[in-house]
Amino acid sequence: MKVLVASKIDGEAVEELRAAHDVVVAVGAPRDELERLLADREVLVFRSGVDIDERLLDRAPQLRLIVRAGSGLDNLDLATVTSRGIVLHRVPGPGARAVAELTFALFLGLARQVLVADRLLRAGHWAKSDIVGWNLGGKTLGVVGLGSIGTTVARLGLGWGMRVIGCVEHPDPERKARFAAEGIELMSLPEVLAMGDFVSLHVPLDDETRGLIGREQLELMRPGSFLVNIARGGVVDEQALLEALRSDGAPAAAALDVHVAEGEGRISPLADLPNVILTPHIGAVTVDAQRQIGVEVVRIVAEHERSASAATMAPTGVRE
Ligand code: MLT
Repeated sequence: MKVLVASKIDGEAVEELRAAHDVVVAVGAPRDELERLLADREVLVFRSGVDIDERLLDRAPQLRLIVRAGSGLDNLDLATVTSRGIVLHRVPGPGARAVAELTFALFLGLARQVLVADRLLRAGHWAKSDIVGWNLGGKTLGVVGLGSIGTTVARLGLGWGMRVIGCVEHPDPERKARFAAEGIELMSLPEVLAMGDFVSLHVPLDDETRGLIGREQLELMRPGSFLVNIARGGVVDEQALLEALRSDGAPAAAALDVHVAEGEGRISPLADLPNVILTPHIGAVTVDAQRQIGVEVVRIVAEHERSASAATMAPTGVRE
């Protein structure tokens, strides 16, 4: 198959794809180059950071399969993909654990002021009596969005000895009971924000969730609470967060792994604040997660090729 890999994926997976297919790798390629390279491609593999919109898809008349090497679909024109009959596969599973673990790294980073302590010590300041943190154990963890990542975060929270509350878009008694059986209390978004000492966001970015956390929601948060956005930049109103963090209101500190403007040379409007941790969308970037995603990508492309050639060899009108 003619494959275009438009984002960085696991190196071994690229080699395995190369051994079986005609592969072009164009990580971080400028837009016009991507359009040119897609002209004869049958398969596109991508992650966040590259916009797969209608214009780009117009340049790919041979495209039959798109593999999202991860979870989010906010950078893909799903309507166009569907209308053209292009097969879409996502690989959301392996990244969930990595994202969930980074959520706790960020919570701990905020609660224990790890980066502040590091900066002070490098400058020769022994701030032992100034850097006073908080335990996670015994606190309330608020999980906004209990999909596979949010549920993993919730379960890890229970492991840390936290009370775990969370919210979902469509709560129903059956889901509530299922979560309750695990020790996770389902509540409304305002309740989660008002009760959480540590709040993390795990919702996809779409029309419903854009700006989900704005001034009004931030005002609901507990004074002294910690907020982690590891979902998508647009879920949080960054200007409202900047004002809340500056005004010493709620929350006390925030960590953002995802940003409204991402990519080389972009600087977050929150970058000047001392009570903020910023990371460059590395939630799913672990060797373990990327290796597992790579294995899946190779399998999906091979399976697609097998079923495409079976369909070609079958008698006319018969699809296997
Ligand atoms: C995802 O949606 O899977 C993550 O944002 C990881 C990524 O694509 O970089």
